[in-house]
Amino acid sequence: MITKEQIKELKHKGNGDIADLVKNQRDVGTINFILESLGQLPSNFDSSFLYELLTHQHHQVRLNAVKNIGKLNGKTDIAKLSDLYKIETDTSVRREIISSIGRQRSVNNKPLLFEFLTDEDPKIVCQAIRGLLVFEKDEDVKEHLKPLINHPNEMVRTVIYKEYFAKDNQSIGVLPHTDTYEYLKNTVVNADVLKALEFVPDESVHLTFTSPPYYNARDYSIYPSYQAYLEFLEKVFKETHRITKEGRFLIVNTSPIIIPRVSRSHSSKRYGIPFDLHPYLVKNGWEFIDDIVWLKPEASVKNRIGGFMQHRKPLGYKPNCVTEYLMVYRKTTEKLLDWNIRSYDYKTVLESKVADGYENTNVWKIDPCFDKVHSAIFPVELCKRVIQYYSYKGDLVFDPFGGSGTVGKTAKALDRLFFLTEQEQKYFEYMQAKSKPQGIFNERKTQFLTLEQFKEIAK
Ligand SMILES: C[S@@+](CC[C@H](N)C(=O)[O-])C[C@H]1O[C@@H](n2cnc3c(N)ncnc32)[C@H](O)[C@@H]1O
Repeated sequence: MITKEQIKELKHKGNGDIADLVKNQRDVGTINFILESLGQLPSNFDSSFLYELLTHQHHQVRLNAVKNIGKLNGKTDIAKLSDLYKIETDTSVRREIISSIGRQRSVNNKPLLFEFLTDEDPKIVCQAIRGLLVFEKDEDVKEHLKPLINHPNEMVRTVIYKEYFAKDNQSIGVLPHTDTYEYLKNTVVNADVLKALEFVPDESVHLTFTSPPYYNARDYSIYPSYQAYLEFLEKVFKETHRITKEGRFLIVNTSPIIIPRVSRSHSSKRYGIPFDLHPYLVKNGWEFIDDIVWLKPEASVKNRIGGFMQHRKPLGYKPNCVTEYLMVYRKTTEKLLDWNIRSYDYKTVLESKVADGYENTNVWKIDPCFDKVHSAIFPVELCKRVIQYYSYKGDLVFDPFGGSGTVGKTAKALDRLFFLTEQEQKYFEYMQAKSKPQGIFNERKTQFLTLEQFKEIAK
């Protein structure tokens, strides 16, 4: 049994001991173990056996050989790697060849890396770009890379955009990233969200968490058609995108719904809202990040399986729907999350740290909440998790479909600020009633406004 320590010892001898050790092995697993345990290679390392392994029949051995050849800085035989690239069929070995050549950081390899830019595998193209970006200021490199902004692959386009074009397109926010406008802080507007957002500047909110109307499944929302409903939501989330700060999150709670049948001779209709909404969000600059599944107890949902339980006939299977989605998106940016996080001071980062007991998986088991006035309210626990995981203390959290104000109430309890819009008078008044001194909002700081009043203070 060969150990890592033995390998370490032998590799420093530089007299071909590792080559002998590999040559005596029949078992592919052991050869790979040796190759993977080599680590950094000493300058006197005898590497000839690695080139022999480039024709090994097992792709993993070839991959590990290429990786190690790539570590022989200055001594790597590029011609041999290039020859292998021409005949290699395994994707991971091909990618590793480009990566190893790129890692040499040698201007002599530029022509070869230019050739790889035409490979049909976008990952190879990205590896070649990476190798070339070491010389990003060289005119010939710019000449080859800039046109890739029109490459068919989105990953390639994104890298090129970030390197050569993003600098011309800086964030248009006028306030510091962590800040927002005074008149939006702890504000509830009784209006159609689209009308209210006309008076909200670009880059004002840090997080949006919302549950849009469920098409025509509840009485508070009636749309002429499903298409009209989706187009309405598209407008809302396009506007939300505009008012969201660079690189910040939108979390939409939706689920497929059912519209009951007109009569016994018709069938009911299912609408896959999350799946139909998704393309509109992506089209308008929201980058998909995660799908979180909200799991409810079976006893809390409508019984659909009853009929099937009786007849057990295939095709007639209708499961009880115990899940809803939290669709997580980020406002598309070339900046990393780290850029967002670094905008906050040390104290805020420390105080916003998520405590133990956070959710590990994308399935969140939470009981639904029922309310005597509003028929579809968020459980506080759901809001709590979203706000804690996706915002910092002092951030402005927006809910375009405010309802009974659960997002506002929870944001406040977690030392965040909130901005809500709600078009129904009765729900607006319900929130107001809850804001009495003993109630859920701190009355002193919450302003409840009509659209006219909001327009006035927005001036
Ligand atoms: C699913 S409920 C949201 C409930 C909320 N999450 C809560 O916890 O109470 C959707 C809400 O959006 C409101 N709404 C519908 N269309 C609207 C619009 N165009 N502008 C503002 N609010 C709207 C409805 O009146 C309803 O209260």
